[in-house]
Amino acid sequence: MTLEGRTAVVTGGGSGIGEAICLRLAADGAKVAVLDVNMEAAALTAKLAGGIAIEADVSESASVDRALAQAEAELGPVDVWVNNAGITASAQAARIGDRAERKEPLDALIRLPDDEWRRMLAVHLDGTFYGTRAAAASMAPRGSGAIVNIASVCGIEGCTGFPHYSAAKAGILGFTRAVAKELAVQGVRVNAVAPGFIDTEASQAIDNPLRQAQRARTPLGRFGRPEEIAATVAFLASDDAAFFVGETLSPNGGIVTV
Ligand code: NAI
Repeated sequence: MTLEGRTAVVTGGGSGIGEAICLRLAADGAKVAVLDVNMEAAALTAKLAGGIAIEADVSESASVDRALAQAEAELGPVDVWVNNAGITASAQAARIGDRAERKEPLDALIRLPDDEWRRMLAVHLDGTFYGTRAAAASMAPRGSGAIVNIASVCGIEGCTGFPHYSAAKAGILGFTRAVAKELAVQGVRVNAVAPGFIDTEASQAIDNPLRQAQRARTPLGRFGRPEEIAATVAFLASDDAAFFVGETLSPNGGIVTV
């Protein structure tokens, strides 16, 4: 019970990796607030985790601030904050154009509309900034806390066809390194997790040839499980990771080794 009695907030906790993180942090003893735009999904996770569900859109700073205030009013001061909410690059890419008529990779960039670019950065990068800022403002005066940001291997090496997603995730890694140094002296640790390809509903939406190619490129020959990402998050959130500052851990089956 490495997180006994601590309060944890997980954005995008309604499904996939976020849901697994909520369940793992709860199993490790934390009181969990599940934040999501999808209140129905958040409520289901909260029920399983014995926590609370809060409706919030991470791309809106006021919504994030309100959610933090509600979580703290109901569960107590936040000790762990996980910026996980995300939208899938595959769903975005599907809207860019029919796969058959798309000439990869140039078309993915040239046909990427302004609003798709902005939305991707708003949810991932703005959302991580708003969440980190809100959590840090609460944690720093108390001199303790852990923030974990979910990036992706696409933020490390860049993924063909997903320039907006790759840029957002690389931005999260740069942001993590910078604020980690600033907050470490105030007792708040900030780190990132950069998963490889993980079996979630979101990644199952990717069409089959692309999924097969991703699996084939992964030395372990399989997709990761959400629980494997949750275990990494739980470690970084715990005191076992007390000397980790601004680090990126990448559970990815060997697809990227740095
Ligand atoms: P998912 O689609 O299963 O879950 C994402 C959750 O975030 C959903 O419950 C959704 O409602 C919520 N959400 C979306 N926009 C939101 C917003 N504006 N405000 C609050 N909540 C919002 O996706 P999955 O696969 O679990 O991904 C979770 C995170 O892991 C994302 O940041 C994703 O980029 C990252 N990731 C996923 C990988 C994968 O292969 N599934 C690989 C690497 C990173």
